[in-house]
Amino acid sequence: MPYARSGGELQVDGVPLARIADAVGTPAYVYSWPAVRDRYAELESALDGTGQRICYSVKANGNLALLARLAKLGAGFDIVSGGELERVLRAGGDPARAVFSGVGKSVEDIDFGIKCGIDAFNVESASELDRIESRARVIGRRARVSIRVNPDVDAHTHPYIATGLKENKFGVPPQVALALYRRAAACPDLQVVGIACHIGSQISQVEPFQEALSGLLGLVDALGKFGIAIEHLDIGGGFGIVYQDEAPLDLAALGDVLRATLGRRPVKLFVEPGRLLVAEAGVLLTRVEYLKPAPAPGYRNFAVVDAAMNDLIRPALYSAWHAVEAVAERRTPTRRWDVVGPVCETGDFLALDRELSLAEGDLLAIREAGAYGSSQSSNYNTRPRPPEVIVDEGGFTVVRKRETVADLLRLES
Ligand code: LLP
Repeated sequence: MPYARSGGELQVDGVPLARIADAVGTPAYVYSWPAVRDRYAELESALDGTGQRICYSVKANGNLALLARLAKLGAGFDIVSGGELERVLRAGGDPARAVFSGVGKSVEDIDFGIKCGIDAFNVESASELDRIESRARVIGRRARVSIRVNPDVDAHTHPYIATGLKENKFGVPPQVALALYRRAAACPDLQVVGIACHIGSQISQVEPFQEALSGLLGLVDALGKFGIAIEHLDIGGGFGIVYQDEAPLDLAALGDVLRATLGRRPVKLFVEPGRLLVAEAGVLLTRVEYLKPAPAPGYRNFAVVDAAMNDLIRPALYSAWHAVEAVAERRTPTRRWDVVGPVCETGDFLALDRELSLAEGDLLAIREAGAYGSSQSSNYNTRPRPPEVIVDEGGFTVVRKRETVADLLRLES
């Protein structure tokens, strides 16, 4: 466990969080590199024997220092924009191990991907396939493509992050995919390399992944009848973690099921995990600015902290639950606090109704904030975004400086 108490003080890999807060101020994102590395190793070993490639989903946390470290472990990357491809390149990642997902790839995105020699565009529509084909012809370089299939699998997750149902905007149904593959295979500017899917995020069960993989294998067979060979099957990301009381996804069982489903097929398995690798490694450190205890029955107790919905939007956007821990434990009586930020919206909360013993100036850690925290942050209310810190080998390094108001205003006139 990267986060543990010693003498009542919350530490990350033996480094006191209070020391980090003193050095960099609050709010601040802190990530344990050993935690990311260990999760990566765990997934790698669970998938052993599948010809696996772990394409880290950059959108979960695209910090260059994390990407660079993941690239050194041999990770590939799942990207969804030219900007994310630029991040991968700057971090020393190999574009030939990157897959490019997303329903709205622009001409610029596609050109950049082709020129960098990415491993595959995960194509999400007939029109996108046309666009990739014509850009590949213009550039004079073959584009490698997978079609993203929407397998109509229920991932049993929050509706905003379910992606594999037919009502979702992603991918195409298998019968449409078949037609697109036949077209792509006949086109000299395209090279068919894989089949992709991604059924949603924060999935705790093995079955939806198995169902999705079986669907892809059915398509492999159908394509085989037309002489179209497939090098890899990409089952996307979505591996769930424990925020509160969710059942943990059993990675070893997942690996067993995927191996059994693949059997002896000569295809490689790609996965696109984001959250699984980074969520638990990270916390958002924040300090209590003001306490506003309920003045009378019917009112609530508010702890106003210096982090807000612009820094971590998951509670406001998905009603997501993040554990909140006092960095230094107090022995004073507890109350039930709503932990809220300074932003002028009632939806600006980080946690509701939490039993905590608090005083003004206390440092809090919002747990499991390594995924979709910093990457979804904004400057709403003209709030500069927090710095990011990586903890490794008993020390810590600022890997993104705190923004300044000048940074925010730079592009305006
Ligand atoms: N691959 C594709 C094509 C995706 O769209 C996503 C996430 C992933 C991989 C990585 O999924 P993961 O392994 O992280 O579950 N902002 C939301 C999650 C949105 C996920 C979007 N797509 C949240 O904070 O829960």
